[in-house]
Amino acid sequence: MLALPLLLSVAGLPALGSASYVTTSMSPNAQGLLNESMAWMDTYYDSDLGYLYDVEGGAALRHETRSSAWYALGLLTRNEKNDAREAEHIIANIIGAQFKNTSQQWYGDYQKYPEEPEVGTEAYPASIYNSWDPNWRGFIGTTFVVMLEEFPDLISDAVKDLMLASLWNATVGDSYRVGGVDDDNLYPAYSNPTLMRAFVSGWTGRRLGDKNMTDAGEAYAQEAIDLFVRHNTLSEFNSGTYTGVSIFGLLLWCKYLPADSAMAEYGPKMLRDTWSAVAQLWHPGMKNMAGPWDRAYGYDMNRYVSLMGLWMWTLVGKEQSSLVKKPQVMSHSADWAWSPLMAVLSDFHATLLPQGTLESLTNFSGEHTFEAQAYYPPYDLVSRNITTWLSKNVTIGAESYKETVVGGPSTSQESFNPAVVQWTTGSEIAFLSLYPTEKSLDVQVSPWHLDLSYPDGNSSSIFTLVVSAFADGRTVHGWGDIGGLNIKVSGNANMTHSLTFAGQMGGSGRPLRDFEFWNFTYVMPEEFHGVPHLSLEFSR
Ligand SMILES: *[C@@H]1O[C@H](CO)[C@@H](O)[C@H](O)[C@H]1NC(C)=O
Ligand SMILES: *[C@@H]1O[C@H](CO)[C@@H](O)[C@H](O)[C@H]1NC(C)=O
Ligand SMILES: *[C@@H]1O[C@H](CO)[C@@H](O)[C@H](O)[C@H]1NC(C)=O
Ligand SMILES: *[C@@H]1O[C@H](CO)[C@@H](O)[C@H](O)[C@H]1NC(C)=O
Ligand SMILES: *[C@@H]1O[C@H](CO)[C@@H](O)[C@H](O)[C@H]1NC(C)=O
Ligand SMILES: *[C@@H]1O[C@H](CO)[C@@H](O)[C@H](O)[C@H]1NC(C)=O
Ligand SMILES: *[C@@H]1O[C@H](CO)[C@@H](O)[C@H](O)[C@H]1NC(C)=O
Ligand SMILES: *[C@@H]1O[C@H](CO)[C@@H](O)[C@H](O)[C@H]1NC(C)=O
Ligand SMILES: *[C@@H]1O[C@H](CO)[C@@H](O)[C@H](O)[C@H]1NC(C)=O
Ligand SMILES: *[C@@H]1O[C@H](CO)[C@@H](O)[C@H](O)[C@H]1NC(C)=O
Repeated sequence: MLALPLLLSVAGLPALGSASYVTTSMSPNAQGLLNESMAWMDTYYDSDLGYLYDVEGGAALRHETRSSAWYALGLLTRNEKNDAREAEHIIANIIGAQFKNTSQQWYGDYQKYPEEPEVGTEAYPASIYNSWDPNWRGFIGTTFVVMLEEFPDLISDAVKDLMLASLWNATVGDSYRVGGVDDDNLYPAYSNPTLMRAFVSGWTGRRLGDKNMTDAGEAYAQEAIDLFVRHNTLSEFNSGTYTGVSIFGLLLWCKYLPADSAMAEYGPKMLRDTWSAVAQLWHPGMKNMAGPWDRAYGYDMNRYVSLMGLWMWTLVGKEQSSLVKKPQVMSHSADWAWSPLMAVLSDFHATLLPQGTLESLTNFSGEHTFEAQAYYPPYDLVSRNITTWLSKNVTIGAESYKETVVGGPSTSQESFNPAVVQWTTGSEIAFLSLYPTEKSLDVQVSPWHLDLSYPDGNSSSIFTLVVSAFADGRTVHGWGDIGGLNIKVSGNANMTHSLTFAGQMGGSGRPLRDFEFWNFTYVMPEEFHGVPHLSLEFSR
């Protein structure tokens, strides 16, 4: 199964280009990101097989497909010694294992790892986002396009043809996706894969002269554009990880499509509007995007690797980004493998930013309130209303929503954070986040104040506030022990709350996204009637 396709023996070419791309085409920040991430990935590369070992570790030496594709782009970018040849080896492996049965829902998608059993068998059933991931067509397909656009001279014609054939299959397979059908959730509002799908279809169709494919890409793009211009925001709004993917998708729209594409026309505006929101929500002192977060992989960007942190690195430098000295020790560290994509696109990216963005990302612009709306059909019944207050040491951000599910469109209570407070304790960034348990929420945000109510709640409603564990006050007995912020809670809930700890080694819950936390939960009084409501007053 893992034998190399025959093709590779033909493609075994010496490195063709020069190693100067890194130093002539990339800013020092982008070079630093590329160099450091590649040095890390080099230690995971299994050159005998032509795949990276799983960079998350703990996988008993299994390998991983997607990070291998990003590494291959990094190899082409670096192009020292055998780099380009190793890249071709990886590319051929990935395509050799691409799903080829047109009758299967995962046709044209890429394996998650080379050792996996055949997907869709009795022993290894097809399970979307588990045994196969429909978004990997987009993640890997877009990476192939960047390779073909930036480094055509380093890739043999045979491998280029293989990549184009692979992109064609990936695009056809991606067209099987319809939100709400076969457990798929690719509605136009699912911003990050939508932007990648439209791009790959538009690009591949043009490149291969398949008009239907080009038109399909333009039609998907138009749906995403129509949705965007309602509020000039992405439907999947404010996420340390996924805003980063959407920015990547928009850069592809801007860079690699001709002027007759709606993507080339609207991409720059969508990118600018997205950055103007980020610039207001990013707190340079706290190195975090203030809440609310539609999908977050942690509660403090200084402790998990986020794609927005990587973009910040390329734009304002590692020191000013939320990455620590050795990003591999952070949570969600597998996303550090995205770096070659960011590094390659970063200088083009910098030319598209709205005026003043870099300054907002580096110097806190002073106390301000951000307001926006976002709309994610069919899960949002009405637009969400977002308000975020930012001050030097405290941010409070929350959104009102009325949805068809609990946990946001990705139905993940763990990643949907509709009301978030962050503050500096002097030594760390602390957080308080409402753990979502309801399909609707009304919020009021003002300086030092957060109001939460459940318009469709009842006597069974609960308010669970996930509060950070503190290095400087390890055992918490109540609100009085919270470091760096005074918190006063009132409302019509029973004020006798429960307090438990979710720890790595014990306590009564498990950490969320690796973050340990104190769980303050309020229930409603018995016989309660009305709208459950909790009010939080903060002071320093
Ligand atoms: C990155 O590595 C290249 C060699 O591959 C080197 O020429 C360049 O100076 C390095 N850049 C930085 C910022 O470290
Ligand atoms: C292709 O997939 C279909 C549907 O799962 C299956 O019935 C068929 O046997 C598969 N073909 C091959 C050659 O495996
Ligand atoms: C593309 O899919 C077809 C089946 O439609 C398959 O025969 C072919 O090998 C695939 N190409 C690649 C590069 O995987
Ligand atoms: C044209 O593209 C659409 C969307 O990708 C697809 O559903 C349809 O099958 C394609 N038709 C042809 C003739 O290729
Ligand atoms: C940030 O503020 C400092 C001090 O006021 C200034 O020197 C620096 O140029 C500013 N940074 C940017 C990117 O504007
Ligand atoms: C958001 O505000 C709009 C008015 O601009 C309102 O129609 C909508 O119902 C509000 N959404 C929620 C969830 O309250
Ligand atoms: C912010 O926090 C720092 C460090 O804890 C403190 O020195 C400063 O006075 C605080 N500023 C405000 C405006 O609260
Ligand atoms: C409260 O609402 C939830 C969700 O609609 C429902 O499951 C539950 O039975 C209700 N509880 C009471 C006491 O009405
Ligand atoms: C928080 O605590 C409550 C009460 O003990 C519990 O029901 C709930 O599952 C906990 N929530 C989380 C996210 O751990
Ligand atoms: C509030 O909760 C406490 C502790 O669970 C309980 O003893 C008390 O009866 C509750 N009060 C009401 C009004 O439900």
